[in-house]
Amino acid sequence: MADRYLSFTGTAPGRFLTRRLGLPQPTALHRWSAEHPSFTGELLHLSAGKSPLDGPDGLAAVLGRTGLTVCARSERPVAVVLDATGVTDIDTLAEVHAALHPVVRSVARSGRVIVLGAPLDTADHHQAAVQQALEGFVRSLGKEIGRGITVTLLRLTDANAAESTLRFLLSPKSAYVSGQVIGIGGGAEVTAPADWALPLAGRTALVTGAARGIGEAVAATLARDGARVLCLDVPGAAVELESVAGRLGATALALDITAPDAGARILAALPSDGLDVLVHNAGITRDRRLANMAAERWSSVLDVNLASVLRTTDALLSAGGLRTGGRIVATASIAGLAGNAGQTNYAASKAGVAGLVRALAPNAAAEHGVTVNAVAPGFIETQMTAAVPLFIREAGRRMNSLGQGGLPVDVAETTAWLAHPASGGVNGQVVRVCGQSLLGA
Ligand code: NAI
Repeated sequence: MADRYLSFTGTAPGRFLTRRLGLPQPTALHRWSAEHPSFTGELLHLSAGKSPLDGPDGLAAVLGRTGLTVCARSERPVAVVLDATGVTDIDTLAEVHAALHPVVRSVARSGRVIVLGAPLDTADHHQAAVQQALEGFVRSLGKEIGRGITVTLLRLTDANAAESTLRFLLSPKSAYVSGQVIGIGGGAEVTAPADWALPLAGRTALVTGAARGIGEAVAATLARDGARVLCLDVPGAAVELESVAGRLGATALALDITAPDAGARILAALPSDGLDVLVHNAGITRDRRLANMAAERWSSVLDVNLASVLRTTDALLSAGGLRTGGRIVATASIAGLAGNAGQTNYAASKAGVAGLVRALAPNAAAEHGVTVNAVAPGFIETQMTAAVPLFIREAGRRMNSLGQGGLPVDVAETTAWLAHPASGGVNGQVVRVCGQSLLGA
């Protein structure tokens, strides 16, 4: 279902009318395309406090490899990176204001503001206070900056371990990720790809629920990044599944993920060297308020969205089906994090996914060299959300800092970043792809 309001506000009369009426004016976001794969322009590199990331092979070198022109002053930066890892007290926190206050209006439309923070030091409550302060700062700036600009806080200790993340955030691929706090460190090995344009070359990925919607976009994006893809969906969707797989040069696997032998059948379908990327995307909704919810609605949603994720993950990990350097990306939802009337079953299943990710991540990294993360989509334009009644759909589209719904490709790009061989330092994260939805923090 096309967002006609967004198209209308993109025209001159639409802009004029909505401005006069004081209505939201969402900016059409700059997304990745083969013709325009990256931003061009200036990256303004600022700092607050004495950064531990300085040094010849530090942050400046990594930013220099993003393709943007790194400078200390810029009239119209496409991105601003403020290194606040050296913020340890109230005085250095004031340098965050001093650095960004003069430049925040000049950031280009659909641009980026990235604040780099340090992990919270529990032995130093002054450092912990001002580093935590950066979260409130970033989330507020994301809500007020407008013009399709996203704002993110990245906590890190090593700029090189964050290269794939910085490249993602400083590219059109992260158009719908805003107001997020992402931590890097303590994960698995970080492997720089031979070719950053084809990071998944030689790797095999399995995507569940790949016959349509977000799963189809994930399969297409992983294939674009060089992966051999296995597309899995229910036998009832076999025609659509074959068509998607055919278009992507992928392999179709018609299988209900809730089948008791699903893990064994996936293992049998894998190439002999195993799997590198497992994307748990299949999901269903069966909405009713709890008082009206029959047990079948509860169990079917929990079975597809959570129990089968647990079963297949366990089956693949215990049989060594995921190779060292592997990536598991599960699909949560902001409804699972914030709660939603009529969705006790769905929200329970999606909150469960977040719990699984956080608990499994350290063990999977230590025992198998595999990272485990989740994407938590907000309002994404798919058949699932097209079925939502008009008024609720319009509210879902506008109730976020970017004033519009996301596209399946936004979730797919975020998944591809988490699947990246150089994203080994990203582990146990639940990353919202929601345009900074007002639902939940
Ligand atoms: P969709 O309904 O368009 O596609 C889901 C796919 O999963 C379908 O092809 C379906 O056949 C497949 N599937 C369902 N049960 C299956 C099973 N037992 N075995 C194998 N495949 C199965 O959904 P959409 O919108 O693409 O969502 C994808 C994921 O993203 C889901 O996990 C959903 O909960 C999540 N999500 C979607 C949001 C949105 O706004 N569309 C928001 C938040 C989360």
